[in-house]
Amino acid sequence: MTKVLVATDKPFAPAAVKGIRKVVEDAGFELALLEGYTSQDDFIKAVADVDAVIIRSDKADSAVIGAGTKLKIIVRAGAGYDNIDLQAATAKGVVAMNTPGQNSNAVAELALGMMVYYARGFFNGKSGSELMGKKLGIHAYGFVGKNVARIAKGFGMEVYAFDPFISRQEIEKDGVKWIGTVEELYSTCHFISLHIPANSQTKLSVNFALLSRMPIPACLVNTARAEVIHEADLLKMFQERKDFAYLTDVEPTNKSDIEAGFKAKFFCTPKKMGAQTEEANINAGIAAARQIVGFIKEGDKTFQVNK
Ligand code: 3PG
Repeated sequence: MTKVLVATDKPFAPAAVKGIRKVVEDAGFELALLEGYTSQDDFIKAVADVDAVIIRSDKADSAVIGAGTKLKIIVRAGAGYDNIDLQAATAKGVVAMNTPGQNSNAVAELALGMMVYYARGFFNGKSGSELMGKKLGIHAYGFVGKNVARIAKGFGMEVYAFDPFISRQEIEKDGVKWIGTVEELYSTCHFISLHIPANSQTKLSVNFALLSRMPIPACLVNTARAEVIHEADLLKMFQERKDFAYLTDVEPTNKSDIEAGFKAKFFCTPKKMGAQTEEANINAGIAAARQIVGFIKEGDKTFQVNK
């Protein structure tokens, strides 16, 4: 019998698991669960006899892929697939997919939530500021970026976006101001919300040269990936710009250095939680299960990322 493993270090909401189980079992497949595991060895063992795997930020590295002797498909229930060793998957003929858009509203809500939290002095009771009328730059206008724009417009923010892969018309039809270069985006906006994936082009790309263009006061919001930030430059930005704030859902490796000197301008969620809502878990988890059924039964490769 076809066996589908859900391997989630950070488990889905129970309602999402219930929905995944229904899709898998209705297809005549068997579901195995590995939730909240603490060692990568547990993942490697669990993959040994399965045909398909659903993961979140879990690392599907070459050891995992190599251990899956029957493995045909890995679906990342979410957007970023930088946690899958695509080369290893392709070499073994394993299809890798993501579920684009399914958890994007949850991530966008967190980005705006962190901005409000910061603008109100982390709810310290003192006089804060409002988001209305402030300039927000969306760095990459994918599913999350679009949702951030929609919500920010509701707050009355002036919304700008830069994305070299999305046409000017597509950005402008949402009532968002198109910006042609990343430098101009940073020079224009007091708030920047990051939505770039982590890949060879983007890693370390958010550096001092870019950040120091931001007008005073400046606030960078990261619900994307820690790897896109040049962390030494981030610290330099804190040191040189007393107005600079960094709000992040992805922990920097130099968090203790930042907290030591700049606690009043820094917020980091205790665990990456942008996509951690019941709604996002249901959307992404069930989409992943359906994609597996579609692939195994019909050979449907929509959303394959290792073509
Ligand atoms: C994504 O890429 O979809 C988000 O970063 C969410 O990741 P998570 O499923 O590990 O919360």
